[in-house]
Amino acid sequence: MKALAVKTLFTSVLFSLPALAHAEISQTEVSAGEVKVPSQDIAQARALVKAFGGDLKHALMTAMKSDGPIKALTVCHVEAAPIADKNSALSSWNIARTGMKVRNGENAPDEWEATVLRQFEQRKAAGEDLKTMEYTAVIQEGEQTVYRYMKPIATGGLCLTCHGAQVDKAVTEKVRTLYPNDQATGFTLGDIRGAFTLKKIVK
Ligand code: HEC
Repeated sequence: MKALAVKTLFTSVLFSLPALAHAEISQTEVSAGEVKVPSQDIAQARALVKAFGGDLKHALMTAMKSDGPIKALTVCHVEAAPIADKNSALSSWNIARTGMKVRNGENAPDEWEATVLRQFEQRKAAGEDLKTMEYTAVIQEGEQTVYRYMKPIATGGLCLTCHGAQVDKAVTEKVRTLYPNDQATGFTLGDIRGAFTLKKIVK
């Protein structure tokens, strides 16, 4: 696959994003030569995405079934970060979630992530299946060389309760209380809700 021209796309990303998370870090994709993320690291990243996604879905479904969406909101609010930390501790990859429109500002994309999220939208528009879509790169971030991996997260029926176009009033009120700057609504079935994003510092 063609390497992403982060540098050239940067200007358009800059103007479309109100707040860039780590705009001060210069990020360059290492495209010269044969520098690639090793296949065993990619396999590990895929396995982590499965484990993390499974844990999140389990926590969400359990709370939704037993106590409904309001309680489930609190569960997501309190447990999303510790569940990510638990899975990050399993390997030297760090795992998190991001998106172009986020609920929690801590999940806002950095420059490279924003570029990849746009690339995912383009690939989806071109007919590619989200199930198999992913993107991997070696990035030079200042002094550090970092392996990165991203995989899009599709909006399913269950997600619409809290991220859909017509969210129940009580749910909206609870979201506003927990996240006054929430942007993560208005999604429809099959949309890219966001992405899993993994980072591994190699040197
Ligand atoms: C009960 C309400 C609820 C449901 C249902 C729900 N979410 Fe969320 N979602 C949240 C909350 C709350 C957060 C913020 C978590 C945090 O603080 O990190 C969130 C955050 C996210 C994020 C991280 C980016 C961001 O916006 O901060 C993604 C990606 C995401 N949700 C995807 C999904 C998907 C996919 C589904 C369906 C499988 C889903 N959500 C269902 C409440 C919900």
